[in-house]
Amino acid sequence: MARQLIDGFGRVHRDLRISVTDRCNFRCQYCMPEEGMQWTPRSEILTFEEIERIARIMVERYGVDGIRLTGGEPLVRARLPLLVEKLADLGVDLAMTTNGVSLPLVAEELKKAGLRRVNISLDSLQRDRFLELTRRDDLDRVLEGVDAALAAGFDPVKVNVVVMKGINDDEVLDFAEWGREKGVIVRFIEFMPLDADHIWNNSLVFTQAEILETLQSAYDLESVARTSAPATRWRYADGEGEIGVVATVSESFCDTCDRVRITADGQFRSCLFATDETDVRALLRNGSSDDVVAEALEFTVAAKWAGHQINQVHFIRPRRSMSEIGG
Ligand code: GTP
Ligand code: 5AD
Ligand code: SF4
Repeated sequence: MARQLIDGFGRVHRDLRISVTDRCNFRCQYCMPEEGMQWTPRSEILTFEEIERIARIMVERYGVDGIRLTGGEPLVRARLPLLVEKLADLGVDLAMTTNGVSLPLVAEELKKAGLRRVNISLDSLQRDRFLELTRRDDLDRVLEGVDAALAAGFDPVKVNVVVMKGINDDEVLDFAEWGREKGVIVRFIEFMPLDADHIWNNSLVFTQAEILETLQSAYDLESVARTSAPATRWRYADGEGEIGVVATVSESFCDTCDRVRITADGQFRSCLFATDETDVRALLRNGSSDDVVAEALEFTVAAKWAGHQINQVHFIRPRRSMSEIGG
């Protein structure tokens, strides 16, 4: 039998998230520092060949069947469709999470290259608020990006809305209605303590219960069985689509987690909130065999913790922020 990436709690890992760059053309408040980031030097970023090698090892040896490209903003990476083409050959569920601003230009090319799904981050449908949150006046282009993803035939298209109390929680129903009209799956995401400016605190979290209460004031919802993916799901009883919540803070789903991550600079992480990483880039560049690389992956997963401790006094924030880890 093929080997598995299994941890001490019996969780088998089959979902790989690859950050292809730590750069981004936005500077979302909850993700990047106001003054901008110090980008990782190019020489420290994995090449496409290195990314392909690590992906191949995970797919062929461990049955990884889902790969998601993330950033920073993945579409900032030059010639990304070439990487998509290579990874599509592995036959996995290949997806991307993007801020959407470049999709009007590349959605079709990505679809042709073999990308199967896109998730688009969008936290406000109001122009001024969008500008304030992202520090870019690009709401219209992101909305065009959503249309471009739909027109290219991506199915489903999901839209991620990070909800922050007192900041954009008044838009939950607007987003729900907009998602139903557009035919996209809106997912509301609880604000997590991975923001670069360290503004996070518990009182800014608009919880799953609060989101659900707001939604139920306007719609009848029916629960949909969840998978190992992070979102809790509901469908509208009138048949007009689906909605989800990623409730990392109030209802942790770590017990079913099947994810591992590789950062743009080649560090392997067994959890979004992990405080340590395995330097896979060093192995890829020092002539190590696939067996040696694979062993490092297995060890890292084997040592994975039960889950994050956001609600505990001893919670330690990871050194890196969301934009560097890729969400
Ligand atoms: P689907 O396969 O389409 O469901 O994708 P996804 O929801 O896993 O990916 P996406 O990049 O759209 O992430 C949505 C939100 O879920 C983001 O805020 C991520 O940070 C968060 N997320 C993704 N994976 C994990 C995870 O393993 N743990 C936690 N706590 N959050 C995660
Ligand atoms: N808390 C929750 N979600 C976040 N994202 C970025 N930063 C945070 C945060 N601090 C989301 C993005 C994107 C996904 C990868 O992670 O909006 O949709
Ligand atoms: Fe960029 Fe995404 Fe971070 Fe926003 S959330 S700054 S779009 S990486």
